[in-house]
Parts: sequence; structure tokens; C-alpha cells
Amino acid sequence: MCGIVGYIGTQKAKPILINGLLRLEYRGYDSAGIATIENNVIKNIKNKGRVNDLLSIPEIETLDGTIGIGHTRWATHGKPSSTNSHPHLDNSNTFAVVHNGIIENYAELRKDLENKGYKFLSETDTEVIPNLIHYFFSNSSLTGEMKFLNAVNEACKLLVGSFALEILCSLYPNSMLVVRKDSPLVIGTSQTENYISSDIPAILSFTKDFYLLNDLEFAYLTRDTVKFFDNNLNQISKNTTSIEWNATAAEKDGFEDFMLKEIFEQPKSIRETIGSHINGKCVINDLNISKEYLESINKIFIVACGTAMHAGLACKSVLEQICEISTEVDIASEFRYRNPLINEKTLCIFISQSGETADTIAALKLAKERGSKTIAISNVIGSSISREADYTIYTHAGPEIAVASTKAYTSQIMILNILALYFAQILERNLDKVEALKQELLEVPNKVEQCLKLANEVKEFANKVYKEKDIFFLGRGIDYSSSLEASLKLKEISYIHSEAYAAGELKHGPIALIENDITVVALITVPYLVEKSISNIQEVITRGAKTLIITNQDLGNKTFDKIIRIPEASEYVSPILSIIPMQLFAYYISKEKGLDVDKPRNLAKSVTVE
Ligand code: M6R
Repeated sequence: MCGIVGYIGTQKAKPILINGLLRLEYRGYDSAGIATIENNVIKNIKNKGRVNDLLSIPEIETLDGTIGIGHTRWATHGKPSSTNSHPHLDNSNTFAVVHNGIIENYAELRKDLENKGYKFLSETDTEVIPNLIHYFFSNSSLTGEMKFLNAVNEACKLLVGSFALEILCSLYPNSMLVVRKDSPLVIGTSQTENYISSDIPAILSFTKDFYLLNDLEFAYLTRDTVKFFDNNLNQISKNTTSIEWNATAAEKDGFEDFMLKEIFEQPKSIRETIGSHINGKCVINDLNISKEYLESINKIFIVACGTAMHAGLACKSVLEQICEISTEVDIASEFRYRNPLINEKTLCIFISQSGETADTIAALKLAKERGSKTIAISNVIGSSISREADYTIYTHAGPEIAVASTKAYTSQIMILNILALYFAQILERNLDKVEALKQELLEVPNKVEQCLKLANEVKEFANKVYKEKDIFFLGRGIDYSSSLEASLKLKEISYIHSEAYAAGELKHGPIALIENDITVVALITVPYLVEKSISNIQEVITRGAKTLIITNQDLGNKTFDKIIRIPEASEYVSPILSIIPMQLFAYYISKEKGLDVDKPRNLAKSVTVE
């Protein structure tokens, strides 16, 4: 999705904006642009293509201002082109705006502005914003900063949809305004400089102190001050939040790609996620959940998108078996529109690495409206989801930059297991199993280290099959949910068509797709399902499939093409282990195909629009 950066300080803005935009590249984009102010004139350079392409536009040399805004665009309204790229200016070139989000009523606003004599150059929804601001500004009798603020506030009142905005005004060359609604934006601050970004890692090398804006709060920035206003333009105060991540956490640190680095970071990210949660007992501080409440609920919903949803699927059984609470896992974009049966007897858990996924946030708002208690699991401190939920539990995976989620997934499974144990302790249910699983969770980082040692074996098999057009994944029970995640990983970074099936479903249709030499990957980690799984795999072998088996079981002398042996674990923990070779499998196939592993086509790291 779009990324925005901003700078106001004593240094030249251009290199800082370019640096920030490069760090936001992972979010996915097709155009980029920056604008600065010098001598009360806005200079604006933008084009379709990569951030580095901006540097070859000769006029960029003339951007010397110490205040500026920048944008990477992920096209929604209008194709990628120079005209459609941000920043967008109003007709008088007084206001420059970058926008992340979608203005749903832009067509109507555009028509009104056209009737007032405004002309539009682009096909975007964003271009209405600078012109609306200009309209309110030129019709205002206010003076000073309130005139600028008021015009932006009046414009925002008319916008339906989501937006994170940075606004420059040539008449206010020493200030910048920002506002957000349902779209991410953070303000990094230091004594003589202020920074804006869509997310923390992009400006982490400049500061560790951040202000977080709530919906429809405005920040009026100068070089050394930040003032905050609500949408009645009353001044409000805010404290900074200090972020523990260090800047190198957002660097490749010697690895070829962020994805590989993040795969190999998993022993550490899982250890940090366990943190102080397992200390004698399982503890989740600040989660004010009583035994009476847990006894009163009849259902847990886990709601999320993509990989985060797969983490939910991987943990359905631990909540059901250890806590004895019926648990349903739902896709956020379905949940929000399917009128789910939720009330005060349902506990809803929302998982989001970024904490900014539009569908997950909307689902959370729905659950709250219907009286359900809500818990968010997020990797980003202060993210939108954490501000909406009744409670937030953070995974401490560190910044995840690669679009394909790896370390966030395994940390999400870890934290859900800990949460299940915490609930079971409160409910005093299955305490012997709680104790056993608690011990097992502590051993997971070491077992993940063992899985990472399988990298070369996995690479060898990946290099044999990287030219395939289709690869199928099979699993039963918990291995089915891991197969779904393995298949998602493969398709998003290798562009190989892939499906995951519950192995028992094969005969009900998918087996028709199996033909000579096709690759089938099977996950077999549940002891009581081994024989059943093997029968299913024999069926595909009989039809000529090449097979890769990921297992923690002794499968004897079967005729598989390759067996990758992972450490033994219970079915609650095995999804963390079995996914490691599958992440590596997807990674090595993508590399062998020469693809951009970290920034796969058409995908964005955080999906902040519907
Ligand atoms: O930030 P979130 O966890 O809410 O993101 C959810 C999905 O968009 C995300 O997991 C996506 O499926 C990844 N690209 C998977 O690798």
C-alpha cells in the first residue's frame, strides 16, 4: 500500500525523504514523488517507477528545502503515471498533499469543486484534497496557523473513507500539517527535527521517540515543535512513546534478503515473544480476564487475514483441547460482512502483524459494537488495532520487512499457545497438559534452530522443482493448516500456482489434478494420522507425483522422493517447526527463479484499504 514520509528540520529534506521512501519500498508501490518548499515555492518531483528512478530526473537537483513530503503510490484510482503520482497540488500551487488511503466520495467532491471552477489533472481520488483545502483557505477570515488548520479540518470533514495526509502550504514554509483516519501514520521527534512516516522502521535510524495520532487528530509541526489538535481544533497534549527496536533490526544485516534474515531470526523472535510470559506460570500482564468471565463465554473467534489467519487456524486446537472452549477461525473480510453470531458471551481475538489491516480492524469494530470483548495480537506497538482493542498482546518479533510473513507467524502461534495456557490456568482445566505444554514451548527456539540447519537439504530439492507450474500441499489435522500457510508462502513469492488440500479430501476432487511428474509436498507430524496420510500420498505417487515429505515421524522405507526430518513435537507446537522448511522452500524457489523475494509483484506489506 502507499507509503508516506515527511521531514521538517535543519538538514536538506531530499536525502532524508528518499532514504525513508526506500525503506518503505517493501510496502509495495508503483510510483513515487517528493515535494519541498523553498522561497515560498513548492517544488514537486514525481513519476511512475521506483524511488531510485526519481534521482535521474534532472530537476530533482534543485530541491534544496529543509521541509518536505514524500510518497510511494500503490495505484487504486488511475493507472501508474507521473500525473497520478503524489504529491498532488491544488490549482494555485499553494498546497501539496500526499495521501495514503481511499476517498470513497471523491467523484461527488470533484464534481462540486469543478462547479466552483477547479480543474483536475489526474484520475486520482486524492486530487480533491488540496483543492478542497484551497477552497476553505481562500474563503476563511482566520489568520495565522489557525487559518491553515481550519482549512484542512473543514476539508477532512467532507472526506468519506480513509486517509493519512501530509500537507505543505507555500504560505507557511516553516510548518507542516498531518492528520489521519483509519490509515497508519507516526511522527518521529527529536529536538530540532521532526519526521513523519507510515511506519516506524522507515525512520528508526533518525529517532526512537514517536507520537501516535488517533483518528482525526491533527499535528502541526515546525522544526522544533509539534502541537496537537482534535477535530474541534482544541489543542490537546500527547506523550511520546519510546520504541525499543534498534535501527539494525530494520537492516538486512549481511543477509541477501530481508525474508532470509527474518526466517533465520526466528529462534530469537520466538524467544523474545516468550519473554517473561512463561515464568513458573504463564502470565499475560494487563489482561484483565477473570475465571467468571472465561466460564461465561461459549465461543472464541479468531479473526485475521492471510498468514495471521493461518496462525489462528494452527491454534484452534490448543484453545479447544486445553481450554475446552469452542473456537472458530474466520477470515476478517468474510467475518465483517457475514453477520456473525457474536455477543458478550463471545471472546474475539484479532491477529495482525502490522496492526493496520483494514479488514481486521473493521471486524474488530464490529465485534466491539456487538458487545464482545476483544483482544488484539500485534507486532507493532501503538498500531491502530492495538488502540481499538480492549486488550493487546504484543508479539516481539521485531520489524518484519519482507512482504511474505515468516517470523511474525511463528511468534503469533507462540503467543496464542501461551494465551491458551493462561486461560486454562485461570479456568483450572487440564493442568497436567498445561505444565507439559509450557515446558515444550520453552524448547521451541532450540528446535527451530535445528530446523534452520535443514536449509541446504531444502534448497537442493527446491532447485530441482523451481520450474514447476503447479505444486500441491497436503496435510491432515494440524498439518492441513500448515499446508495452507506453506502454499500461501510459495505462491506469493514464486508465482507458482499452488493449492493446499486436507489430504482426506483428495478423492473428493483434487486428485483429478494429479498427473505424471507433478510435485506434491506432504506434511506428516500427527502420530495418529500417519497411516491415513501415507495412504493419501500413495494415491498421488501411483499417479506419478514427485513427493517431498516434511515429518517428525519415522516413516520407514517408503518410496518418497525426499524426506525432510524435523524435531518431534506435540501438535500444538509442530506448526512452528514444520513451517520453517516450507518458508525456506518458497524462498529458494523464488531465488532460483530470479524473483524479487522481498517485494513480490502486486502485493503490499500492510493492506490498509479494503
Ligand atoms: O499485517 P497483517 O498480519 O494483518 O497482514 C495480514 C496479511 O495481509 C498478511 O499475513 C499476508 O497474507 C502476508 N503477505 C503473508 O505472507
